[in-house]
Amino acid sequence: MANLDNPTKPVHILFVGAGAVGCFYASRLHHPSHNIYTSLTARSNYSAIAANGVILETHSFGNYTFSPYAVFPSIAHAVPTPSATTNPAPTRQTPRDGWDYIIVTTKALPDRTDDAAAVAPLVSAKTCIVLIQNGVGVEEPYRKRFPQNPIVSAVTVISAEQIRNGVVRQNRWTRISLGPYGSGLGIPPDPNDELSDVVKQGHERMDQLARWWIRYGGIRDVETHTELELQTIRWHKLCINAAFNPTAVLSGGRGNADQLTDPELREHIQGVMNEIWNAAPKVLGKPFPDNLAKPEKIISSTERNAGARPSMLLDWEAGRPMELEVILGNPIRIARRAGVDMPKLQTLYALLRSMQKVREDQKAQGKL
Ligand SMILES: NC(=O)c1ccc[n+]([C@@H]2O[C@H](COP(=O)([O-])OP(=O)(O)OC[C@H]3O[C@@H](n4cnc5c(N)ncnc54)[C@H](OP(=O)(O)O)[C@@H]3O)[C@@H](O)[C@H]2O)c1
Repeated sequence: MANLDNPTKPVHILFVGAGAVGCFYASRLHHPSHNIYTSLTARSNYSAIAANGVILETHSFGNYTFSPYAVFPSIAHAVPTPSATTNPAPTRQTPRDGWDYIIVTTKALPDRTDDAAAVAPLVSAKTCIVLIQNGVGVEEPYRKRFPQNPIVSAVTVISAEQIRNGVVRQNRWTRISLGPYGSGLGIPPDPNDELSDVVKQGHERMDQLARWWIRYGGIRDVETHTELELQTIRWHKLCINAAFNPTAVLSGGRGNADQLTDPELREHIQGVMNEIWNAAPKVLGKPFPDNLAKPEKIISSTERNAGARPSMLLDWEAGRPMELEVILGNPIRIARRAGVDMPKLQTLYALLRSMQKVREDQKAQGKL
């Protein structure tokens, strides 16, 4: 593909997962006048989006309708036409020479689905894979399956929700931090190592994507980083997600600010944050930089954000699987590999995993 802000050949971008995050960032990346065409793979909301596009109610850009270049009812339907054997209904909208970017915005549930395997028929030699998902270790299955493809890892700070099928509300924030992904630890690449080239390509593709989102999509806080910086941001975000999200479920449904009004829960939250704050530098080989908020600061800004209820709690209440592996299981396992135990995270993980299993067993036995 052309390495230009205004590509001379059409660039085809496919979002897999047309939920809150996917629809919002896709809608800021569809610019046919600049030769950039963005499509969606939907699922339960396919009919609504195919009929009306995505209706966005946004704090940052007002209300608008996003009509993607194409919307597909499943991943199989988005397989490029030459692979028609695996696409049940190839259309002229699947790019003949493959997808330039596959942007994965599903919930990260590696204990339920192998999304890297699911997207494999969409990936060709020219495809850059972008993962906009919470947690750590989300990239590993993609790197294993696609050793030669550039991967961009992304962390977003946004508050968005799909309020009904095909209608997405962005409540606040737009920030997205991007970084290329090689091995995950950001070790400066050995020029003889084949990963070094793939990380370089990841850098280029990330820069291009960032420019399109900023210049054409109007998102001001798109940040580009090195691999190590981005992994540091992922671990830093765990201070919020691994502390408040599990506690919201285990405390009986209390929102983040509400948890902090209870002295025992407050001490527990502080303890979880401190555990991550102390473990991450040992995993990453570098302390958190000064510009990232320390636990005390995260706590004081959370106190001002009354009413916020974390996604893990919403998922639990709706009977959906929770992102336990990427927010708790992976950090524990990755830290263990670096010789660090995280007993507080391990306790949260063990309890929530068990709660989820008991509920699913009861459902399977028809008791719920
Ligand atoms: N929402 C936020 O404010 C926010 C903020 C920061 C980070 N995040 C993170 O961003 C990621 C995405 O979150 P989200 O809130 O956008 O989740 P979401 O609204 O639940 O969207 C996920 C979408 O992926 C779809 N999907 C899952 N598997 C699919 C498949 N195989 N094929 C096609 N579609 C598939 C789901 O379809 P179905 O409806 O059919 O299941 C759903 O529409 C998560 O890791 C989350 O933690 C979210």
